[in-house]
Amino acid sequence: MSLSAADRIIVPLDVPSAEDAIALLDRIPAASFWKVGLELFVSAGPEILQTLKSRNKKIFLDLKFHDIPNTLAGACGAAARYGVDFLTVHAPAGKVALEAAQQAAVAAAVAVGQEPPTLLAVTVLTSLSSRSLAFELKIPLELLDYVQQLALLAQDSGIGGCVCSPQEIGGIRQVCGKDLVLVCPGVRPTWAAQGDQQRVMTPGAALRAGANYLVIGRPITQAADPAAAFARICDEM
Ligand code: C5P
Repeated sequence: MSLSAADRIIVPLDVPSAEDAIALLDRIPAASFWKVGLELFVSAGPEILQTLKSRNKKIFLDLKFHDIPNTLAGACGAAARYGVDFLTVHAPAGKVALEAAQQAAVAAAVAVGQEPPTLLAVTVLTSLSSRSLAFELKIPLELLDYVQQLALLAQDSGIGGCVCSPQEIGGIRQVCGKDLVLVCPGVRPTWAAQGDQQRVMTPGAALRAGANYLVIGRPITQAADPAAAFARICDEM
């Protein structure tokens, strides 16, 4: 089944409290897919996930887990029991940890009758530059080569998708093929401020490049009329 433009947009709940999150949900009723990140999850707790489920929203739980295999598996299993749709782990946790995370998420979801989440691997944070990769982290590869290696590692470990910058879509598709689910932040319509995102692409261009889902925050959430901004982006896609 092909997804509509609205189904492919994930709006981040980048707010500090459950009250603020609910206010944002109320302002954009047409948005069906929402991202809960570290700030909201740590401040509001897992009840915010129940709030989203009770409104029939899809959930991207973006907690970017990174730990030893046993701990990563436990955390992914616990997250899967909430019935979230997407869940992030850091690819540099390594193959054993990624395999354990994937298996634990599936087993835990099945045990409670939930659909297993798609795990998404974070390769290299888009806030890191080629310079920091080379001089701080001492990674002896070009940034895109390293991203490709980590995406392949995640795929070989049974992980279903990756979070990546729109600029990395082509390179990842080249080595991982078309089945990996690619979720891209760093997306800006031409009429929106770039903010702190460095290398941006428009929603239409990101989809044409091969993204499956787009995380679009401030162009929607900071607009004078968020519902209208959401609708305008859907039209442009
Ligand atoms: O407001 P904006 O559209 O920049 O929001 C993008 C969202 O995607 C934020 O929640 C941000 O934390 C998240 N994100 C990102 N870059 C990544 C991973 C996540 O911008 N590499």
